Amino acid sequence: MENSALFVLIIALSERKISFQITTRSAHEISICFENRFGFGKIEALIMKILAIETSCDETAISIAEAYGELGNISFKVLADSLLSQAMLHREYGGVYPTLAKREHAKNITPLLQQTLDKAKMFEKANSPLTRDQISELKELLTREQELFVLLIAFLGNTKKPDLDAIAVTAGPGLEPALWVGINFAKALSIVWDIPLIPVNHMEGHILSSLIKDDAITPIEFPTLALLISGGHTQLVVMKDWSRYEIIGNTRDDAVGEAFDKVARMLGLEYPGGPEISKLAQSAREENLEKPYSLPRPMINTDDFDFSFSGLKTAVMYLIRDKGSLTDTDKKQIAREFEDSASEVLLKKTKRAIEKYNIKTFILGGGVSANKHIRYIFETHLPQDIEMFIPHVELTGDNAIMIAASGYSTIASKEKISKLDAIEANGNLSL
Ligand code: KG4
Ligand code: ZN
Repeated sequence: MENSALFVLIIALSERKISFQITTRSAHEISICFENRFGFGKIEALIMKILAIETSCDETAISIAEAYGELGNISFKVLADSLLSQAMLHREYGGVYPTLAKREHAKNITPLLQQTLDKAKMFEKANSPLTRDQISELKELLTREQELFVLLIAFLGNTKKPDLDAIAVTAGPGLEPALWVGINFAKALSIVWDIPLIPVNHMEGHILSSLIKDDAITPIEFPTLALLISGGHTQLVVMKDWSRYEIIGNTRDDAVGEAFDKVARMLGLEYPGGPEISKLAQSAREENLEKPYSLPRPMINTDDFDFSFSGLKTAVMYLIRDKGSLTDTDKKQIAREFEDSASEVLLKKTKRAIEKYNIKTFILGGGVSANKHIRYIFETHLPQDIEMFIPHVELTGDNAIMIAASGYSTIASKEKISKLDAIEANGNLSL
């Protein structure tokens, strides 16, 4: 960014008397000024070091990244990344059990932070006693997370303040009890370490996830279309510019990942069922099995960009019921037909949106984008002149790297950053 493009963002934070002033002078120079009730602070960083926290579902994830530059020209390097999946614990419930997710996040997030700081070579033991004010502040903040409070106080009192410039945390969408753990934890760190907290939209994270490559957030040409497919979402989103989103299509009932998980359950497969269905479907293709079943392609020809997967799931249910019992071959064939149906609908609607909105770039994102068949059909069936981004398989599911990328983009986009007290979990947060 040129000097002339200097921007200053000041947010006066009332109750807590915190204000942030973020100034970007050049692509390599960023400063953040802030004030809270414990005093003034100013962080000037050539390269901004961001701690990112993700607890929206059943993954506790923390990353540290360093970033600089303006939107469209962001250097982004991951210094450390940790992820703890609770999937095995939720198996017996056949899906994510929110109270259990919350408890696990609260138990694991402090040790995971220590581990992540350690990986980034930022962890240093030191006697850093908290003031009485800080302790009472944290106690109030973490009233509903007593165990987390105890662990965090012990950690902070024995850890030197790391060299971090900002914290990014997922504010939604997701499971609110789970989101709150990450948010309150991040607020506590923001207060004690005196650094700003940036709330992040998880779905923006999934979009940026696809663009993280070669220590950068890859520049893209607009308009861009993103198809977000996860356990909670099936959305077509048009981006006219960085951080400017228009949702043009949504699922009217189940998300595609949810349908994969539910069908998997009907076939007697373990949670999360998406990868299991994918394996069976792949076997059906490799073994060249016949295609004796035909499932509907819901809303494939409707004149909008919405989706519906609950009818498809119900069709599978009737098919299974009518068959009575299933052989391994039946299961493979059903999985394949289901996967074909879901991917055909996703592809057809995407192609229509590409035409209608004169799209130059296509982004696939979200947990379901790990699906090999879906990746393959998008790679092979989109118009040649569309530049396409699919996330690295390790970045398809929930992770904190994408939250760091989104946090830095928020700073670089000059978006207004919420005051600390106003940052809340929003299970239905929209782009
Ligand atoms: O994005 P994500 O990790 O969490 C949410 O934000 O929802 O997505 C999780 C979803 C689950 O429904 C899971 O079954 C699905 O992604 N999934 C897959 C595959 N891997 C994960 N679905 C189909 N095929 C896969 N290979
Ligand atoms: Zn997700």
